[in-house]
Amino acid sequence: MNQQRDSFGSKFGVFAAVVGSAVGLGNIWRFPYMAGENGGGAFLIVYFAFVLIIGIPVVISEFIIGRRGQSNSYGSFRKLAPGKPWYLVGLMGIFAAFIILAFYSTVAGWTLEYIFLSVKNIFSSPAGTPAEVFENFHTGSFLPVLWQLIFMILTAIIIFGGVQKGIEKYSKILMPMLFLLLVILSVKAISLPNSSEGLKFLFKPDFSKVDSNVILSALGQAAFSLSIGMGCLITYGSYIKKDNNLTKMAFSVSIADMCIAILAGVAIFPAIFSFGLSPAQGPGLVYIVLPEIFEQMTGGTFFSLLFFVLLAIAALTSSISLLEVVVAYFTEEFKMKRSTATIVATSLSAVLGVFTTLSFGPLKNAAIFKKSIFDSCDFLATNILLPLGAFFIVVFLGWFYDKKQTKDELSNHGTLKVRLFPLFMFIIRFIAPLAILLVFLQGLGIF
Ligand code: TRP
Repeated sequence: MNQQRDSFGSKFGVFAAVVGSAVGLGNIWRFPYMAGENGGGAFLIVYFAFVLIIGIPVVISEFIIGRRGQSNSYGSFRKLAPGKPWYLVGLMGIFAAFIILAFYSTVAGWTLEYIFLSVKNIFSSPAGTPAEVFENFHTGSFLPVLWQLIFMILTAIIIFGGVQKGIEKYSKILMPMLFLLLVILSVKAISLPNSSEGLKFLFKPDFSKVDSNVILSALGQAAFSLSIGMGCLITYGSYIKKDNNLTKMAFSVSIADMCIAILAGVAIFPAIFSFGLSPAQGPGLVYIVLPEIFEQMTGGTFFSLLFFVLLAIAALTSSISLLEVVVAYFTEEFKMKRSTATIVATSLSAVLGVFTTLSFGPLKNAAIFKKSIFDSCDFLATNILLPLGAFFIVVFLGWFYDKKQTKDELSNHGTLKVRLFPLFMFIIRFIAPLAILLVFLQGLGIF
């Protein structure tokens, strides 16, 4: 069985694939507007703390469960805890994958339209201001849905290819490209007049802005950005070779993810302040504020093209990790062919995706708990399912799974020294679950 499973080839391949999953719209689209709305530097510090005390331990835990279980997120729990209901955590993750993929592909689709707008150079007159252009486009129906479906198809094509010839191969090319583009944009942003205001906003904490809502959002952002809490990294963990160092991998991936989010902030905030715009623009931030900036900038067309291509690439290497969660489940549990599983999974999430896309336009008034369909999906997945998933993952490994087995997997059967193992156990038994629970209940107003 193990021999038939596809796996990542090289260590760099694993790194590229996992960073590819982690780095995405979460870093470049979501992080800047969350920071912009939640106090800039203060949000950054809370987010940073959560990555360290919760994020990294959960990444390690997911890797352990996946590599030990050698299966998808449902199957891995089944193998590690036979006859126990822990597989429900895996199923919850698969459910979350559908929801995230739906609203993720909405925003990723916008990115494709913006690549075209950059080429055609029509962010504003005669079409209107960038705000009007964005409003007209994303509240429409045909065009946003078309781009979303195109994005889904691109995702499916890579997943068809499999783990090594699909996910790994593309991530190895796309991720370094992304990094390079982001560095170019950051340098450009810093060189703008008055850029220090933006850097101050991003790095100078103002703790008066921090309330329980900000803290829950920072936790949600940390989980979303690291792709944890729904079995993505369990699935990827199952493709990691037995002699790779899971702890090292988890650290380097998490730090890379955080650096890219900060780099995105450095590319965006100085430009916003330099042009006298407001950072608290919500989800439209990169689609309204940035075109405004590109318009006024020398070489703007080039930089906007660069930026939106980058965003599309980042989104693609993340969406494949979401689709893989479902495809791995279908192929292994229902014995579907990879191609069939890909088509079924893509179609199912495309159906939900059309609703999230249309919830900005024709379905604007179809609210669930006073939120639009899009916002409900984002809230349900990011602020509820991911924290819950992360909670159960650490509790499972910390309290229910045999500690010796955990150590055996983490140390590659005793070949690696795991000096920090007691610290790791302490964090996943006490610190991480308590922190998640507290933030979660407080953020929902229950506590
Ligand atoms: N982490 C990705 C981003 O920042 C999105 C993503 C991919 C994700 N897989 C996930 C989020 C799993 C949560 C869970 O854009």
